Amino acid sequence: ATTLGASAAEKGRYFGAAVAANHLGESAYTTVLNREFNSVTPENEMKWETIQSSRGSFDYGPADQIVNHATSRGMKVRGHTLVWHSQLPGWVSGLPTATDVRNAMNSHINNVMGHYKGKIHSWDVVNEAFEDGSSGARRNSVFQQRIGNSFIEEAFKTARAADPNAKLCYNDYNIDDMNHAKTRAVYNMVRDFKSRGIPIDCVGLQSHFNSQSPVPSNYQQNIQQFAALGVDVQITELDIEGSGTAQANSYRNVVTACLAVSRCTGITVWGIPDHYSWRSGGTPLLFDRNYNKKPAYDAVLAALGGT
Ligand code: G3I
Repeated sequence: ATTLGASAAEKGRYFGAAVAANHLGESAYTTVLNREFNSVTPENEMKWETIQSSRGSFDYGPADQIVNHATSRGMKVRGHTLVWHSQLPGWVSGLPTATDVRNAMNSHINNVMGHYKGKIHSWDVVNEAFEDGSSGARRNSVFQQRIGNSFIEEAFKTARAADPNAKLCYNDYNIDDMNHAKTRAVYNMVRDFKSRGIPIDCVGLQSHFNSQSPVPSNYQQNIQQFAALGVDVQITELDIEGSGTAQANSYRNVVTACLAVSRCTGITVWGIPDHYSWRSGGTPLLFDRNYNKKPAYDAVLAALGGT
């Protein structure tokens, strides 16, 4: 096939992009989006601060724009994200008791997943709950502080009941290298969830790479070790700082690693043209600021078996 999405589909995978609602009016942007991708992730529009900035009042406008754009064209949608310490409104961080935080968390999950029931192929139920560094500890969020370790499994149980057909993912960055303490901590959590019957279907490897944190040499083995626990793996926020052949080779390695593991079910890049990347001034994506295909694009397409 001649596009990323169609080539990935021939391999039984999806190929997606993070999309921002405020770019959907730009024809060059939607031309590439509609041509190349068969899955989208709202980059910010499904986050708690956007959807429920004040308690009990839900704004689905921006997220609906993206979901409608995608579903009317047969694209899949990844939901990002339900429970995260960041982009969280102040009213949640200020809740005083475990009961308050638990009620707010479960009601947020129920409301958002209910609104999109049947339209989301995978949800990032919990995002970035572990610390960086060598401790493997939980991050000190309001959820962790008030509810304790059980907040993650509680979120997954609530999510399963809210939309039984959505895949439920745990999503994080710096869990791409199997020797990293954070990777081991997430691995142990998933293994524990599977052994106790806590509903979890997938692990999202965000895969934000740069020169300090390049694609690890054990990346495929890492995908394989998660898959062996009985969960799918999705590459959820891929971007690789760099340019030219070096960047293209790194992208190729990521795609090849995913295709080598049958449970690696799809790849999402975290934006379309470089100038809309969250890495401001960076060039980590597959299209340049004029929407020209970069060498990285050609490498990805070839790795997917396209031409
Ligand atoms: O929408 C407001 C706008 O009204 C305001 O005028 C402007 C001024 O700063 O800010 C706008 O909000 C920005 C928002 O993106 C939408 O553009 C925020 O400041 C900015 O912080 C926010 O950044 C997002 C970031 O998450 C926040 O944590 C990035 O776009 C988004 O790409 C990034 O995505 C995260 C994933 O969700 C989780 N994993 C890491 C990844 C990269 O950081």
